[in-house]
Amino acid sequence: MEVVTPRQIQNLALIGFMGTGKSTVGRMAADTLHFTFLDTDDVIVARAGLSINEIFKQQGEAVFRDLENRIVQELTRRTKTVISAGGGLPVNGDNLASLKSHALVVCLWASAEKIWERVRNQSHRPLLHDGDPLEKIRHLLEVRGPYYRQADVLINTEMRSLREVASQVLHQFHMAQAAHK
Ligand code: S3P
Repeated sequence: MEVVTPRQIQNLALIGFMGTGKSTVGRMAADTLHFTFLDTDDVIVARAGLSINEIFKQQGEAVFRDLENRIVQELTRRTKTVISAGGGLPVNGDNLASLKSHALVVCLWASAEKIWERVRNQSHRPLLHDGDPLEKIRHLLEVRGPYYRQADVLINTEMRSLREVASQVLHQFHMAQAAHK
């Protein structure tokens, strides 16, 4: 007989493309829940002593993805944490499965045009240092769509303020916790 272990929802993980508001919404949610906020990019930068741009340039994307995967494995030991995941992190199926084992995984979504509008004046994202960044966003969104859609909950951020998105996220988190008690 198969024994089904009930899912533990100890944490909240936000996934989704760059510029969808994961960090801002994550901080708001962590404040309300009195949880710790953790951004996987911040942990990588602190450990490497290099910016994301420098890691990509000096060590390559594969090294960055390894660091990301190592952090995801460590997160299984955490409780009461809101995790903001780097945009490419869920493309590794192991990462997504691992997050789901302890967290409600919520994906924040926006169109390529909206994302471009939000990130166009920022320069800290190496994947957008491209001749045609909008096209690059469209392409990556298409490739990553199937992974993002594996989240427990998908929230469109386009017509909502980040505060409204945070309140939706919290609502979903409370419902999931009640359902998995
Ligand atoms: C990336 C997203 C970034 C950061 C890195 C790569 C991606 O995180 O991890 O630049 O592959 O989409 P944010 O989504 O927090 O900007």
